[in-house]
Amino acid sequence: MLEKHAVFEKNSILLTIGILVVVAIGGIIEIAPTFYLESTIERVEGVRPHTPLELAGRNVYIREGCYVCHSQMVRSLRDEVERYGHYSLAAESMYDHPFQWGSKRTGPDLARVGGKYSDEWHRQHMIDPRSLVPESIMPGYPFLATTPVRKFDIKAHLSANRSVGVPYTDAMVDNALADLESQVDEWSDGYDDFVARYPDARVRDFDGNPDMISELDALIAYLQVLGTMVDFSEYNPEENLR
Ligand code: HEC
Repeated sequence: MLEKHAVFEKNSILLTIGILVVVAIGGIIEIAPTFYLESTIERVEGVRPHTPLELAGRNVYIREGCYVCHSQMVRSLRDEVERYGHYSLAAESMYDHPFQWGSKRTGPDLARVGGKYSDEWHRQHMIDPRSLVPESIMPGYPFLATTPVRKFDIKAHLSANRSVGVPYTDAMVDNALADLESQVDEWSDGYDDFVARYPDARVRDFDGNPDMISELDALIAYLQVLGTMVDFSEYNPEENLR
């Protein structure tokens, strides 16, 4: 056996090819099952696609590069769980294209920021972070409050997401614009239809300015839903493993 191995040890090219073959076998055994195992992404109650307004807010989040300073993934380490809450589940970002996990934390993780602060707090914080957190180094984004949200192509955003697997229905795509407008106005004509399509979505004027649906409306709607879709008081990991 050892003599046979000498062939490899005396020939560097053969040794390199041999190493590649062995490493590839290990790689296939590790990686291949994740493509077909049902339990890779466990099914979890409550995770739904973003509403059109939240999706528009998510687009603002990406455009402004918030992910450069903020991650959206609570790691399963004790200090993280104590600070931010339950560690992130794969299912929580299954409809996120592209996902916003991030790897840089100049500011805190935002995966569970939904419901942590009031809309008013976010409004003030986005316009002038240092008015609330004097030592903050986060830039202010005052223009979001005065810029109307981009909505003419929101339908296309929903169908683009649908083409990569997000389960938006035909009605959701067709009514994307009306749904976006209904989410900031509970007296709108489309309110009932909107709530029927997105039962647990929050409907209110997020930026406190009823005259315009601003980028700030969209961004706050997005921030307020982060990490709130799964009810962790009812979540039991054992039950979801099949
Ligand atoms: C230069 C880095 C930087 C960028 C870019 C940045 N932030 Fe921050 N952010 C911070 C820091 C630092 C803090 C902590 C201090 C504070 O609360 O202002 C913070 C705090 C926050 C908080 C409060 C989190 C908590 O749990 O207290 C939110 C929400 C937030 N940022 C949202 C955003 C959004 C949305 C954007 C993009 C529009 C953004 N940030 C861009 C650095 C940044």
